[in-house]
Amino acid sequence: MTNMLADELNNIRQGALPAIAAADAASLEELRVSLMGKTGSVTQLLKSLGTMEAEARKAAGAEINQLKTEITECLAARRAVLDAAALEARLAAERLDVTQPPRPEPAGAIHPLSRTMEEIAAIFSAMGFAIKDGPDIESDWHNFSALNIPGHHPARAMMDTFYLTGGEVLRTHTSPVQIRTLLNEQPPIRIIVPGRTFRSDHDATHSPMFHQCEGLVVGEGITLGHLKGCLTDFLSAYFDVPSLPVRLRSSYFPFTEPSMEVDIGWNKKTGEIGGGTDWLEIGGSGMVHPNVLANCGIDPRQYQGFAFGVGLERLTMLKHGIADLRLFYESDVRWLRHYGFSPLAPATLHEGF
Ligand code: DAH
Repeated sequence: MTNMLADELNNIRQGALPAIAAADAASLEELRVSLMGKTGSVTQLLKSLGTMEAEARKAAGAEINQLKTEITECLAARRAVLDAAALEARLAAERLDVTQPPRPEPAGAIHPLSRTMEEIAAIFSAMGFAIKDGPDIESDWHNFSALNIPGHHPARAMMDTFYLTGGEVLRTHTSPVQIRTLLNEQPPIRIIVPGRTFRSDHDATHSPMFHQCEGLVVGEGITLGHLKGCLTDFLSAYFDVPSLPVRLRSSYFPFTEPSMEVDIGWNKKTGEIGGGTDWLEIGGSGMVHPNVLANCGIDPRQYQGFAFGVGLERLTMLKHGIADLRLFYESDVRWLRHYGFSPLAPATLHEGF
């Protein structure tokens, strides 16, 4: 090896190694290119080996490759240090504090009517009922005729509603879902139908849109005793009054025979449910009329059933002491906040409502 080459290798070594050890990410890459790139100084020296005599090439080759190895290792060591530092910096900058409490978000609330529907669903699910719904727009047949209310019947006048040009109506009660279910299913049937209903009424105690919950049980040997037991269990669970007085009072509905209003005991003065000696009507009920079963292809000599319908606004107002029906639909946030329920505490029967 010539002295010239030895000097040159030393120059490169003494310039490169300290520079690499102090380089940042960008200058490290520049250094690598200037030393080991296609036209880098170490690469040039390796190329020059081709012009040397065999003896000289052997000695020079060993020296140059030795330098190349040193530089390669030095570059890799520096890169590892820089990568580790970059990762540290990112971890520190992107730190996530999972113990921080959530920002106070404006919380939504469950509307009291929705809550009532959830509670009713929970009570009847526990009794083995399925939950059904049906369309708001009904045919005249489903809403009236199939329920044993013929065209001339005065019950139609009591359920004046909104009429669509095709002859359909906005359903006046949830009872048409009885028909839809009886047409599609075989007894035994046990369903409830919470949902929207419509009538052309509008004053302090009536809204053109309101809510009902229908109930229907059809099977062999179903009696009025089952009806009373079922309603008593439901109403005591809903109002959370263990021995709630429930009274069935003779009445008339075209789709039941016999028909009864359902009353609960309360104290008119204090509003206490289950106390006092007053009675309050909360819905209608009865044994499913044989004509209704027959209209749906079910043999009334083999199957019997009971049905009931309750007003959900009424049940909700009684339970929560809400005085005015109209506020249910005004979307007043203050009212909703006051009477609404936490979405994180859904209705379950686990410990009562
Ligand atoms: N559909 C009746 C109404 O809206 C309520 C009703 C009464 C429903 C008696 C029933 C029932 O299922 O048996 O006034």
